[in-house]
Amino acid sequence: MAITQIPEVIVVGGGLAGLSLALRLAKSGKEVVVLSKQALTEGSSLYAQGGIAAVLAENDTFESHIEDTLIAGAGICHRETVDRVVRQGPASIDWLLNVGVSFSQAESVEESPFHLTREGGHSHRRVIHSADATGRAIELTLESQLRSHPKITLLENHLAIDIITSHHLNIKGKNRVHGIYVLDRHSGKVITLPARHIALATGGAAKAYLYTSNPDTSTGDGIAMAWRAGCRVGNLEFIQFHPTCLYHPQAKSFLISEAVRGEGGRLLLPDGSPFMLNHDQRGELAPRDIVARAIDYEMKRRGVDCVYLDISHRSTSFIKDHFPTIHQKCLDFGFDMATEPLPVVPAAHYTCGGIVTNKDGSTDLEGLYTLGECSFTGLHGANRLASNSLLECLVYASATSEAILQRNGSSTLPDPVLPSWDESRVTDADERIVVSHNWDELRRFMWDYVGIVRTTKRLERAAHRIALLNEEILEYYSHFRVTNDLIELRNLTLVAELIVRCAQMRKESRGLHYTLDYPEPDNQTQPGDTILSPNP
Ligand code: FAD
Ligand code: SIN
Repeated sequence: MAITQIPEVIVVGGGLAGLSLALRLAKSGKEVVVLSKQALTEGSSLYAQGGIAAVLAENDTFESHIEDTLIAGAGICHRETVDRVVRQGPASIDWLLNVGVSFSQAESVEESPFHLTREGGHSHRRVIHSADATGRAIELTLESQLRSHPKITLLENHLAIDIITSHHLNIKGKNRVHGIYVLDRHSGKVITLPARHIALATGGAAKAYLYTSNPDTSTGDGIAMAWRAGCRVGNLEFIQFHPTCLYHPQAKSFLISEAVRGEGGRLLLPDGSPFMLNHDQRGELAPRDIVARAIDYEMKRRGVDCVYLDISHRSTSFIKDHFPTIHQKCLDFGFDMATEPLPVVPAAHYTCGGIVTNKDGSTDLEGLYTLGECSFTGLHGANRLASNSLLECLVYASATSEAILQRNGSSTLPDPVLPSWDESRVTDADERIVVSHNWDELRRFMWDYVGIVRTTKRLERAAHRIALLNEEILEYYSHFRVTNDLIELRNLTLVAELIVRCAQMRKESRGLHYTLDYPEPDNQTQPGDTILSPNP
């Protein structure tokens, strides 16, 4: 669709964070352009299974949800953020109900009209869900509203490359956003979009790892763009590994929801013996960092390829009602979870850190906002509590829309003319194999050296390889016409560098960052957050 005037707001990302922000702004009368690098809803949100954590049951309390979040976060959550986000849980769910999302109903008279499931680290049933395909139910509902909204322009298959700032344009004064370069993936052309407000809702960076539960979109683009535009990033060492992804060569680490353990699923060794109570008294429902590390430990100690998740003691009808998608997907791979244990392994799942963000979604760069998984709000600390991510997307969509509505039109300066993308010195790529080889290499050494268990030596090795890759990619980038894969690889390599730098700064083990060289938390000398600044 053609854009005829300078958009008031560009939202980059069609996940829950981006779509809910766009819809809120459009409902308040703002013209919004939404960019999505694949089909509109392709992204992690679409595949979310377990649900959204919120205090909805009569005998649950905000204090309990806050406490669970702080415990999972291993001592470094920002308390004020946790408090605010948790308290806005019920209003966020009301907003989804009002836009037409339907959730699974309670099976009998319960504390809430909705069925609430349980997940690791939660001391109460508080996860509202749509069976085991919560993300799909939400994304498809929002998509239908966005597609028919007159204030919204959707640019699908459009990949944001870089933000255009005052500094790029040599404009004196406070650095701010002026626009963005975007690759139209169909035509291969780079277009220039001016904008006064840009919101990055581009999701996480789990594709930096060989094994991940995430779809291909999670390449850290927003984090890399914000960093290049001058924003600080923080806590990127805290990459969450989900304990249970299906172990099958063709399954691409298909997620087996934590709700399976919440509804009684047990983790077993290949000989059928349980092991979680040897690691934590909360057993299968310990926070995710602990369960993933326990599985990793048992696999390495026993030299086995996977462990097993068994919920076959529940009835077939219970499993089909609660986990229809997971049940069917496992059947497709030859496993019937209603009658046998599933082989499972951990995989990279969630980026807890990201672009440093204020409580209204604003960043270090005027006019740039960020929300959802690419942001760092302080909610998750050193380890995200299950199902707090979708909640964070909703709460920050509300806060960011209010901030943009308040500030819109505040600039009185004329909009500068933006230079077109310069292709005068590049040619078509001659060796695409370089990009795919580097992509594979990066993901493999990140898995081996910057995974569940780290050491100082492994981090040094990773840093060394990243430096070599960065050099090669930059050279390639400056000589050849940009492609989708090249842009994503450039971003992912930069974010991998930032992950390693954060990990090297943390000389302790805490939450998701576990290193054999400093196996204990250090509450005396270690700063709470690891913040990196591009302009030291
Ligand atoms: P995403 O949903 O990942 O969306 C990012 C969007 O940005 C995509 O549309 C993508 O195409 C677009 N994009 C990225 N880069 C660019 C670019 N350069 N240009 C243009 N567009 C771009 N969390 C929970 O709380 N509960 C759950 O039950 C749950 N289950 C999960 C199950 C799975 C399998 C996975 C992978 C994650 C799950 N999570 C869950 C985590 C949660 O889904 C994500 O953290 C959350 O959906 C992130 O939303 P988002 O809008 O920030 O990003
Ligand atoms: C799951 O269903 O296990 C995923 C929940 C989450 O990532 O919060």
